[in-house]
Amino acid sequence: MHSRQLLRQSLLRHPVLVLLTILMGFSGALFNGIGTVLIVPILLELLGQASSLMDQLPDVLRQFLGFFDQFPENQRLAAMTFAVVFMIVLKNAAAYAGSLTSSSLNRKLAANLRLDGLRILLDVDLSYYTRTKVGDLINHLNVEISRTTVAVRTLARMAIAIITILVFIGILLWTSWQLTLIATVALGLVALINQTAIRQSKVFGKELSHLSRLYSSRIVEILSGIRLVKATANEASEYHTISQLINDREQSEYHAQLLFAGIGPINEVCSIIALISVATVGRTVMGDRLETFSAILLTYLVVLFRMLPSIGQLNAARSQLANTLPSVAIVSEFLSRSDKPFMQSGSRSFLGIKQGIHFNNLSFSYPGSEQPVLRGIDLYLKRGTTLALVGASGAGKSTLADLLPRFYDPDGGRIEIDGVDLKQFDIQTFRRRLGIVSQDTFLFNASVRENLVYGRPEATEAEIEDAMARANASEFILALPDGLETLIGDRGVLLSGGQRQRLAIARALIQDPDILILDEATSALDTISERLVQKAIDELSRDRTTLVIAHRLSTVQNADQIAVLDRGKVIETGVHSALLNQDGPYAQLCAIQFSEQMKNRDELKTADLEISDPKQALTHPSKEMRSRLGSILEILGQLTEKDMQNERSREEMTASAYANTLDLLKVVEDFEKSGQRVLRSAPLS
Ligand SMILES: Nc1ncnc2c1ncn2[C@@H]1O[C@H](COP(=O)(O)OP(=O)(O)O)[C@@H](O)[C@H]1O
Ligand SMILES: [Mg+2]
Repeated sequence: MHSRQLLRQSLLRHPVLVLLTILMGFSGALFNGIGTVLIVPILLELLGQASSLMDQLPDVLRQFLGFFDQFPENQRLAAMTFAVVFMIVLKNAAAYAGSLTSSSLNRKLAANLRLDGLRILLDVDLSYYTRTKVGDLINHLNVEISRTTVAVRTLARMAIAIITILVFIGILLWTSWQLTLIATVALGLVALINQTAIRQSKVFGKELSHLSRLYSSRIVEILSGIRLVKATANEASEYHTISQLINDREQSEYHAQLLFAGIGPINEVCSIIALISVATVGRTVMGDRLETFSAILLTYLVVLFRMLPSIGQLNAARSQLANTLPSVAIVSEFLSRSDKPFMQSGSRSFLGIKQGIHFNNLSFSYPGSEQPVLRGIDLYLKRGTTLALVGASGAGKSTLADLLPRFYDPDGGRIEIDGVDLKQFDIQTFRRRLGIVSQDTFLFNASVRENLVYGRPEATEAEIEDAMARANASEFILALPDGLETLIGDRGVLLSGGQRQRLAIARALIQDPDILILDEATSALDTISERLVQKAIDELSRDRTTLVIAHRLSTVQNADQIAVLDRGKVIETGVHSALLNQDGPYAQLCAIQFSEQMKNRDELKTADLEISDPKQALTHPSKEMRSRLGSILEILGQLTEKDMQNERSREEMTASAYANTLDLLKVVEDFEKSGQRVLRSAPLS
């Protein structure tokens, strides 16, 4: 969309308000003009010059005065004075009404532009967000849209100034076209002088938009990365960077102010010089007939004088418009739909899966990148079963999972559900039947309940409680200060990773999706939380069509099918035991992970034998001991639960408790040794 198009559309959107604003401006100008010309005869009357000069008044004035002939001679002056005052009152009433309509135009316009922007932000494809900064978008929605409404309002102000000037020029032409010719030349020169200021104003406007964009992007980035800023002790340098931006913006605004504030005085001085030139030239031209023309000249100068403020306003408005036009350009680009990606939705309602999902020969590369991320993927996910994707980081697992909710569409091949291309389904009905739990759970800054029912607001109390229980989340939720009504986030309770994850699972359970995508849902958790979350996930994915990506291979052993991805290609598929027997890539991945786990354990056991700081020698082992004890207690707690019937997990957990107890013993031993060492090295006083 072009800037001019946006301005025109904005004006056309509120035709009544725009017309009222201009109508008020026009009537104000008319009342102002009539009031102004009537001053001349009153002045002449008061100066006792009426009888000699009345006949020489310009035609236009004599016509107005004709109206007052109906009054008796002795009341005529009073009637005229009253008329002047009345006209000025009317003019100000019109100005008042005009400023009300124009500010209401301003508000409505800002609200509408913001709604348009919001619509676009919600509709546009995810890929738009990977190449746009959130700070920029917030800046567009706030600052640039405000400045755009200022531009529209300035346009209305310009229209009013132009109408006023035209009315006055009409009167001036009627009074004397010769003098008007001279005045036009003189005031045209004043307008030319303004041209430099207008050009400069545009430069400042661009600069301001640029700086305000940088500023808001940086602020958003710092706030979302505040942990990193603090962890790297970068507060001072961030403060410095932003204070630089704030200063630059302040300077830019100051320069624009210097310019705006200068326009008024310069215009006034120039206009007065123009006025005097008109008087001088007029006097010279009419030299011999001055007697007869003095009344005309007087009327002319009074009208011209009253017109000067409007000319000043017009010039100021031109400069203001030039300053805000860069923002109009930014907003028109932001609101334009043609240069943004939108996902085309199909028309078929999605009613569930009967057979399965076929990833049919998919290939994909991210927009703007040549590198293929997926190549010839061919997989089948049968209804009610679980397909696990494994492979090195960067292999393309998450990308493949993102194609299912149509966050992106494949470049080649297609995803079919029961033989129907995914693109034929209505995207919203499909996504509603889809549950996604990923590594970083997003929770809104709202109550636990609001977060739980986000996917299905109409869930009943019983459904919520059931989901909480199945997600292993009832206990901690009910222990929160306000239970389900507790606020999460900055004003409320902060939850641990495992708790957030269980909330996300409960949310998915309430949503009761047909298809489930789990993208490394447990990889950010420690072993104990993982066990709790894994139980919840098993509950969630039971009998559901599930696509699971797991970093820890131990969690996908039970999948109905495992696919190993490598650099965008499926290199092996099968079930856990068969894949292990094949001794191929999957077996290798398992071996690598197993040896890493062993190494970590050994490192843990031999770590920190060298602690020399006595304080640390005390706190470190005590922390270790507490963590081991915590794990053991947690496992014992789970073992006593009634639903622990699965013999295999019972064995696993007992083994884990045993390993933890051994670790605990080891820590106590180390503690004893290092304690002796510290005692030996510390000087006895
Ligand atoms: N939004 C994106 N834009 C461009 N490239 C991306 C984007 N997301 C991921 N990639 C690239 O795609 C490849 C696969 O990434 P991903 O699917 O996240 O792998 P995995 O989940 O298996 O670790 C990587 O090389 C990564 O750099
Ligand atoms: Mg991933």
